Amino acid sequence: MAKITYVEHNGTEHVVEVKPGMTVMEGARDNGVPGIDADCGGACACSTCHVYVDAEWVDRIPGKEPMEEDMLDFAYQPDPVRSRLTCQIKVTPDVDGLVVYIPEKQI
Ligand code: FES
Repeated sequence: MAKITYVEHNGTEHVVEVKPGMTVMEGARDNGVPGIDADCGGACACSTCHVYVDAEWVDRIPGKEPMEEDMLDFAYQPDPVRSRLTCQIKVTPDVDGLVVYIPEKQI
């Protein structure tokens, strides 16, 4: 299991144990973490699973594919460095301790 901390815009933290093989989006969805809508169900086609990855983690998770990069243009206030789509981040033992910040809203 990998421990992932989801921080809501208001500062509320949700610390969740997520099974390897799932995505960071699925970890939020299956544990009732609010603020990650995931309208397209993980197909990298909506941008409503957008988060800001903790700065310490940006280089510790696999980078963005071009499709994710394109879709992030549609996210609410994307950050060129820290923004990611959580459906595109696979959970592995390497992401144990990951911290992500949920934006004020999803669009
Ligand atoms: Fe739609 Fe991630 S769930 S892009």
